[in-house]
Amino acid sequence: MAVDVVELKKVLARRVSGVAVVTTRAGDVIHGMTASAFTEVSLVPPLVLVCAEKSANTHPVIAQGGVFALNLLAHDQAALSNRFASKRDEDRRFAGLDYETGITGAPLLAGTVATLDCRVRAAHDAGDHVIYVGEVVDVRRSEREPLVYLDGGYRLLSRSE
Ligand SMILES: Cc1cc2nc3c(=O)[nH]c(=O)nc-3n(C[C@H](O)[C@H](O)[C@H](O)COP(=O)(O)O)c2cc1C
Repeated sequence: MAVDVVELKKVLARRVSGVAVVTTRAGDVIHGMTASAFTEVSLVPPLVLVCAEKSANTHPVIAQGGVFALNLLAHDQAALSNRFASKRDEDRRFAGLDYETGITGAPLLAGTVATLDCRVRAAHDAGDHVIYVGEVVDVRRSEREPLVYLDGGYRLLSRSE
């Protein structure tokens, strides 16, 4: 029997994740979306992956440009996460934002926990998503605390010890 998708979504919502804005560039076009389906893959060579829904506009821009940056959001950047997840004002997601251009040409957002600037090394078809594996060509980090996502909401980390 097929797995109940609603039940599956509820289960996956219980997975604690960080939140990133995946930014990308193809020529003069820059784009970005909020993503939590990203992870480290390899240290040597340095590889990470992000899963982009096929219906997301970010997907064809990554496919065409061959680059992406993972901007790992900090605890006080929930508004940025919402901005890059919303379809409203999609063309104005970068308006008024503080960002610079990375080595790959992808926008690197200010105030994040870290950024991983990547060139696409592989793209794997995976159901309704495409898995983009990127080679990290530049990293930046701060000492900021990360934004955490769980059960459809943002959380703040606290130390247990
Ligand atoms: C916390 C959070 C995590 C998300 N993670 C992903 C993800 O990993 N992959 C994805 O394709 N969409 C993810 N989304 C949804 C996209 O951000 C959303 O569909 C966005 O509007 C896509 O923009 P685009 O069509 O301009 O690419 C997430 C949304 C939120 C709020």
